[in-house]
Amino acid sequence: MCGIVGYVGHRDSQSILIEGLKKLEYRGYDSAGIAVYTGKGMEVRKAKGRLAVLEGQLKEKPIAGSVGIGHTRWATHGKPTENNAHPHASGKVAVVHNGIIENYAALRKMLKMQGHTFTSETDTEVLAHLIEAAYDGKLEDAVIDALNLVEGTYGIAVISSKDPDKIVCARKGSPLLIGLGENEYYVASDVAAILQHTRQVVYLDDGEMGVLTKNGYEVLDLNARRIKKGVSRIDWSLDEIEKGGYDHFMLKEIFEQPNTIFETMRGRLVAEEGFSKLGGLNLSKEELLSFDQVVITACGTSWHSALIGEMYIEELARIRTEVEYASEFRYRNPIVNDKTLCVVVSQSGETADTLAAMREAKQRGAKTLGLVNVVGSTIAREDHGGIYLHAGPEIGVASTKAFTSQVIALALLTLKLARLRTMSVLKGREVAEAMLALPQQVQQILEGASEIEKIAERFKNASNFLYLGRGYNFPVALEGALKLKEISYIHAEGYPAAEMKHGPIALIDEEMPVVFVAPHDAVFEKVVSNIQEVKARGGKVICITSQEEPVLDGLIDFELRVPQTVDMLYPVLTVIPLQLLAYYIAVKRGLNVDQPRNLAKSVTVE
Ligand code: F6R
Repeated sequence: MCGIVGYVGHRDSQSILIEGLKKLEYRGYDSAGIAVYTGKGMEVRKAKGRLAVLEGQLKEKPIAGSVGIGHTRWATHGKPTENNAHPHASGKVAVVHNGIIENYAALRKMLKMQGHTFTSETDTEVLAHLIEAAYDGKLEDAVIDALNLVEGTYGIAVISSKDPDKIVCARKGSPLLIGLGENEYYVASDVAAILQHTRQVVYLDDGEMGVLTKNGYEVLDLNARRIKKGVSRIDWSLDEIEKGGYDHFMLKEIFEQPNTIFETMRGRLVAEEGFSKLGGLNLSKEELLSFDQVVITACGTSWHSALIGEMYIEELARIRTEVEYASEFRYRNPIVNDKTLCVVVSQSGETADTLAAMREAKQRGAKTLGLVNVVGSTIAREDHGGIYLHAGPEIGVASTKAFTSQVIALALLTLKLARLRTMSVLKGREVAEAMLALPQQVQQILEGASEIEKIAERFKNASNFLYLGRGYNFPVALEGALKLKEISYIHAEGYPAAEMKHGPIALIDEEMPVVFVAPHDAVFEKVVSNIQEVKARGGKVICITSQEEPVLDGLIDFELRVPQTVDMLYPVLTVIPLQLLAYYIAVKRGLNVDQPRNLAKSVTVE
């Protein structure tokens, strides 16, 4: 959600912090700030609004100093104002924080009684005061004392003019890593912030703390005992986190899909045997055969791909499968045991609800498999095994390429489970061959983007949209509606097409665009009846279909064609025009596609 970056070394920190924050702005963007030790004292600068506002102010009045921390915020406690922006300082301590301090009200009351005065409405400010109050010669000891009083989640970075040459950082429930340079060290919530300086990183785990000076770093636990940590190397290239000539990250990521879909299956799909090789599952054949149910848990777009996975696994592997909103799963008493395979779907690998759901399933004895994009993320480190999506960094807040890669990863997992059970080689081969054709087919759809742009022009001022689909394409309808509402702020609902008659049909009038996701699959004829129902009420029908079809003559106002594939893989194709439709409508409404209001890329609070 929010982004953290910090630097200690021999160079001026201001530009390193601002450049780092630019790479993190997609995580939160309602305000930003930095704190730098200048040699004489600590200076804090903050500004409401996008990072450019802060950057402008710093250009006019720079701060010099080679120890600093920075933050870009997505508000949780208190409005996005300058006062509520991080860093929060108390006297000689400055703190940036991601996460939520749950007992902040009690701590604030206690600190006020001790004479501390507060200038913001945030939960974070108590941390600065607690550290200040606990300081007794060593910043790391004060941070430990403060954190021992705190309940909740945090990724923090702290500097102090009392112990000026170091950054102390700590993590519980909010990602944080240390970047290693030559006589310079970095801290960041996301590797993108420091990738231009180093590829060597140390991931902190919950309960760990980093102490960084320009001469080195150490990792401690909250009892100040040293911990030995491995160094990881990041393979992403800088190009992957740049727009590469596209107007927006979202458009770039939509257009990357022929490649990202291929990357997800590369080296894993054994087409001639209709099988998949998944090296990271960490499950024996016996274990794979022992499960009597699968639970898939996720949020948002990842939840939509999970719905498709449920159909795959039930239909082809014949294992009972449930899809659970991660946020709901953890607060009920689900039937999960050692015969359960819990599949956890997450682009970021950091979504707080999804992570908590995975921990819950683990505790109940389930084996957990993470379908995660971000290598080294918390879910990827805590699961029993997994399938990395290999879709490359997804920066646009609206998820696109992660969705198609998730569907592919779920298809690979299904092939594995199904071929070990009852699926024939022939059937497996048919699916695998169709999967191999997808990159080229997606490319073909992308080449028709200008047609979709025309439809966007026609409907850019609509105030409501309905998305309808059946079978494998019902989750695609949900995803199309989510994409539109996230970035264009047009109200949109996704529904199973036939369910429309049970309520939403009341909304249809001559102004209402209704998007049907209706490729020629087993339920096509059924969807045609639903199209007729909408047309009879004057709705404007936009239809995503897959071949010329006389029955549609006179029924649809706009047609978008995708190539033909096997029924189960249509979602990978039909979602592409919907991503583009949402994108073009948002652009035509003059909106910030990559940073839509109120949203954050990775939701690391509950
Ligand atoms: C929608 C979107 C969100 C995420 C959701 C889960 O475009 O991006 O709905 O899908 O917050 O995030 P991950 O997949 O990172 O767990």
